[in-house]
Amino acid sequence: MKKIVTLAGDGIGPEIMAAGLEVLEAVAAKTGFAYETQAKAFGGAGIDAAGHPLPEDTLAAAKSADAILLAAIGSPQYDQAAVRPEQGLLAIRKELNLFANIRPVKIFDALRHLSPLKPERIAGVDFVVVRELTGGIYFGEHTLNADSARDVNDYSAAEIRRIIQQAFEIARGRSKKVTSIDKQNVLATSKLWRQVADEVANEYPDVSLEHQLVDSAAMLMITDPARFDVVVTENLFGDILSDESSVLPGTLGVMPSASHSENGPSLYEPIHGSAPDIAGQGIANPISMILSVAMMLRDSFKETEAAALIEAAVDKTLSQGILTRDLGGSADTAQMTAAVIANL
Ligand code: NAD
Ligand code: IPM
Ligand code: MN
Repeated sequence: MKKIVTLAGDGIGPEIMAAGLEVLEAVAAKTGFAYETQAKAFGGAGIDAAGHPLPEDTLAAAKSADAILLAAIGSPQYDQAAVRPEQGLLAIRKELNLFANIRPVKIFDALRHLSPLKPERIAGVDFVVVRELTGGIYFGEHTLNADSARDVNDYSAAEIRRIIQQAFEIARGRSKKVTSIDKQNVLATSKLWRQVADEVANEYPDVSLEHQLVDSAAMLMITDPARFDVVVTENLFGDILSDESSVLPGTLGVMPSASHSENGPSLYEPIHGSAPDIAGQGIANPISMILSVAMMLRDSFKETEAAALIEAAVDKTLSQGILTRDLGGSADTAQMTAAVIANL
């Protein structure tokens, strides 16, 4: 019996978590996957319940889980607060050593018309952003004074090496091309990043490596996105570029992710946030969460059939024109979830 800890969080989090768990239950009934879930307070909900966005028992449960599903955290209510829900997200990533964040970017056939890019520009787009998740400026010292502020960007060669290696491993199972993105014309961390990337590339003669500077890479992601296969970059650049890449499929609402450590449990979550602008209305797109469940089944539990069933059901649902509002349709979260389950 696999133990899955669920962190629904805030805003649309509970709505899409419910959708993801319904799909998990339906696919498990088909394939015989045996699991139990344990829901824990996290984010703003953790602050409300226990005064901390990552309560102690939530962290303990996550550490002993076989996998963790996270929906979304964050609420405008905490914008001026001393303790923010986002601190819980950073803390769980750090505590579980989830250094490798995998964010696939693919275009659904049924959604091609939603992309703001011309059809010829999105033809053949299929890449993965490999984002370093436990280092860099997110975790350096932050100092805020009345008239000055400072954020430190730190990377060790070892931290860089393990994420670059992860990217090369993923590229081996794909089109064997790694694009490493940095700002080595300015940043010392990026100079080290590029040097380590070159060293790692020597261990993978079957995989090609190109370097891009982050500013022009941001431009290429829109003008020539089909050139990318595996993109690897530091924490902050990966955050920005992965949201940018959601423009290609047309919405953040379909983008899942997986975060892995060296040997502990992995965590699966949509790349988007708690969408306070649409929370509580039952209209959030559940696909990002449902596809995060599929990633969990494949990566953590080797349930490839169950994962493929979910992905095919999502494809079919979208091609039937069952679309939430962010996709230009009028289906609500429950209708879209029911359609995915019917298509399983
Ligand atoms: P957001 O990703 O929550 O929303 C950006 C836009 O995308 C909004 O218009 C929203 O309605 C839309 N959107 C996002 N997911 C959607 C879905 N599933 N279906 C339909 N529309 C969707 O980003 P934001 O508004 O900048 O941030 C809101 C809060 O979320 C902030 O507190 C932020 O810190 C937090 N956040 C959390 C995570 C996370 O939990 N991993 C990620 C990003 C942002
Ligand atoms: C993400 C989010 C988080 C990040 C925030 C909410 C701290 O934007 O998961 O992409 O910046 O990593
Ligand atoms: Mn982000």
